[in-house]
Amino acid sequence: MSDHKINVAIVGLGFGAEFIPIYQRHPNANMYAICQRTREKLDQVGNQYGVERRFMSFEELLKDPNVHAVHINSPIHLHAPQSIAALRAGKHVACTVPAATTIDECRQIVKAAQEAKKNYMMMETVVYSREFLYVRELRDTGRLGRIQFLRGSHLQNMDGWPGYWEGLPPMHYATHCVSPCLAIVKGEADYVSCIGSGRIAENLIAKYGSPFSFESAHFKIRNQDVGFEVTRFLFNAARQYTESFDVYADRTSFEWQRVEGEDPVLHVGGEKVEKTKVPDYAHLLPEPIRRFTTKGVYDDEHQHLSFIQGGGHGGSHPLPTNVFLMSIVEGRPSFPDVYQSVTCTCARICAHESAMRGGEIVKLPDFRN
Ligand SMILES: NC(=O)c1ccc[n+]([C@@H]2O[C@H](COP(=O)([O-])OP(=O)(O)OC[C@H]3O[C@@H](n4cnc5c(N)ncnc54)[C@H](O)[C@@H]3O)[C@@H](O)[C@H]2O)c1
Repeated sequence: MSDHKINVAIVGLGFGAEFIPIYQRHPNANMYAICQRTREKLDQVGNQYGVERRFMSFEELLKDPNVHAVHINSPIHLHAPQSIAALRAGKHVACTVPAATTIDECRQIVKAAQEAKKNYMMMETVVYSREFLYVRELRDTGRLGRIQFLRGSHLQNMDGWPGYWEGLPPMHYATHCVSPCLAIVKGEADYVSCIGSGRIAENLIAKYGSPFSFESAHFKIRNQDVGFEVTRFLFNAARQYTESFDVYADRTSFEWQRVEGEDPVLHVGGEKVEKTKVPDYAHLLPEPIRRFTTKGVYDDEHQHLSFIQGGGHGGSHPLPTNVFLMSIVEGRPSFPDVYQSVTCTCARICAHESAMRGGEIVKLPDFRN
C-alpha cells in the first residue's frame, strides 16, 4: 500500500465526529482539521481527539492549502454549496447524504468536479452495510440468478431531530433506500412515479410545503428491464426505525430483517426459506480500521443517535471512508462517483416532484450526457 497521506478536514461535528477516529487510524490519512460554527463544540471535539487545526469558518478552512480533502457533514441545505465551493478551491470532497436539494445544484456539483479534476463522493452508508455487501456477494457468485425486482424502505420517525428535518418531504432523504437498488444492478434511474399518502401535523407542512406522511415511488432503471419500489416516512407514523433492502431474483431472493435484532431471510425456491446470518466484512479494510465495522467510535452511551437507530449503519462507516481515501491515492473514481452520487440524489428530488403532481411520471436527468 502506498504511504501517501491525504490531509483530511471534517466539516460538521455531530455525525461527522464519528469519522475522526477512523481517519486518525487509516494508513493513508492525516486527520488534519475540523470545522464547525461554535467554539465550545469545536474545542470539545478537538481536545477529545487531539486535532489541532480548528476552523469556525468553512471559507477560512478552504483557504488552507494543506487541506487536500474535506468530508462534509453539515445540515442538508449546506451540502451542495459547501461541496461546490470546496471543489472550486481544489479540494477532494466526500459529502454525507444527500448530495444536494435541487437538480440545478446536482449539475453544478458535476461541473465543479469535472473542472477541478477532483474526486467527489457522496458517503452513502447503505451500499457499504454488511447486508448490502452480502447481497453483492450472492450476486457475484451467481447465487441470486436473474434479478427481477428490488424494494427499499427507510422508515424513521424524526420527531426531536434538528429543526431543518421538520416537515422534510419523505423522499428528500431517500438515498438510503434508492442507492442499494441502483448499486446492486449497477444501474441509474430513468423515470419515476411516486404517490404521497397520509398527512403530517399542520405545523410541519408549512416548512417545505409537503403534506405527506409517506411517499412510495416506483423507478424504472435506464436500459434494463428491471424496476424498483421505495417507501419512506419521517413523521406521524408508529414504526420502529428500519433501513431495508429486498432483492427478488429467479434463484434466490433476499429480504432484509424488518425488526432490529432479527436476521435476514433467503427464499431459495418453492416454499423453502432460510434464515441467514450476514457476515462482517472488516477483512476488506486496512487492519487499523477494521474494529470500526463492529464498534462505534464512542462508548455505548454516547453514540450519535443515527448510529444507535440504524443498527450501526450495518458496520459501514470505515468502508466508504477507505474507498474515498484510496480513490484519491490511486487516482481513480470512487464508488459512488460524482455521476452516481447526483443521480441517486436526483431520484429522490424527482420522486417528490411526482408525488406533488399526483403520481405523474417524471424523467430523471442523465448527468453523463
Ligand atoms: N447514515 C448516514 O449517512 C447519516 C446518518 C446521520 C446523519 N447524516 C447526515 O449528516 C448530516 C449531519 O447530521 P447531524 O445529525 O450531525 O446534524 P446536526 O445538525 O446535529 O450537526 C450539523 C453540524 O454541522 C455544523 N455546521 C452547521 N453549519 C455549518 C457551517 N456553515 N460551517 C461549518 N459547520 C457547520 C454544526 O455546527 C454541527 O456541528 C446531515 O445532513 C445528515 O444528512 C447521514
